[in-house]
Amino acid sequence: MKYLIDTGNLEAIKHINEFYPIEGVTTNPTLVSKEKSDFWALIKGIRAIIGEDKALHVQTVQETAEKIVEEAKLIKETVGGKFFVKIPIGEEGLKATMMLKKLGIGVTMTAIFTPQQALIAANAGASFVAPYVNRLDNIIGDGVRVVEDIVTVFDNYGLDCQVLAASFKNAQQIHNCAFCGCHTATISPDLFKIAISHPMTEAAIDGFTKDWKSVYGEKKILDF
Ligand code: E4P
Repeated sequence: MKYLIDTGNLEAIKHINEFYPIEGVTTNPTLVSKEKSDFWALIKGIRAIIGEDKALHVQTVQETAEKIVEEAKLIKETVGGKFFVKIPIGEEGLKATMMLKKLGIGVTMTAIFTPQQALIAANAGASFVAPYVNRLDNIIGDGVRVVEDIVTVFDNYGLDCQVLAASFKNAQQIHNCAFCGCHTATISPDLFKIAISHPMTEAAIDGFTKDWKSVYGEKKILDF
């Protein structure tokens, strides 16, 4: 499973991009609004940090297919590089997805809560579908189970669409998605740190450091 960072915060993107093996960045209108900055400066800032080869998923705020397509074209032209427009599932969104497919602009169909929504999005030509794991868990909707069902349905029909699971609140949800064959997950900056942390790891590293220092003091291998 590949990882993306789900934020619009440039400092967080800079940090995570430097220290973690991410495939790209996802944003949404809520995350962008939180930054309270100029939209284009923010989006261009993200591209400057991640470069042209990593994916940037930016959500449209238009409501009709034609306007969604117009907005997607403008964002793609402005930010360049590997780009996917995020479109919430709905009739206008599906129409826009079919239009964008013909134009060669990748679509991430978002706000997915059921396998049927995902299957229709994939048939429309979406490159990714984004099911919201934690929001499903919040209503006892078993987010991971929905992700697993989408993966199974896509496998059943050999669909060329990846599951980009989103909306995570803990490492267990991320692990369970990886376990069921989910292709990609977009997670918040704080969850990256949580996902790699373990008290036993810290204890192991403390032990190595203590034992080394007991014989070699502050000397490192480079000092010999
Ligand atoms: C992803 O792109 C979604 O917009 C996002 O992960 C939703 O997360 P939330 O449920 O934490 O708002």
